Amino acid sequence: MYVCLCHGFTDRDVRAAAAQGCRTPGAVYRAICGEGARCCKCVPEVRSLLREASVASPMQFLDAAE
Ligand code: FES
Repeated sequence: MYVCLCHGFTDRDVRAAAAQGCRTPGAVYRAICGEGARCCKCVPEVRSLLREASVASPMQFLDAAE
């Protein structure tokens, strides 16, 4: 499902970015498209997906924090 229409990325892209260590929406945008959000309508959904990823793989998020 498309999450960001301005940049054209999907929930899969956000999950992949989270798996590669992105922990904030800003990090996700930079990793996927090399720039920040434009209209910011998708930021709440990106945050929600990052939260889901942290619940699904908490050890990965702890490892990245160290
Ligand atoms: S919909 Fe993502 S920045 Fe506009």
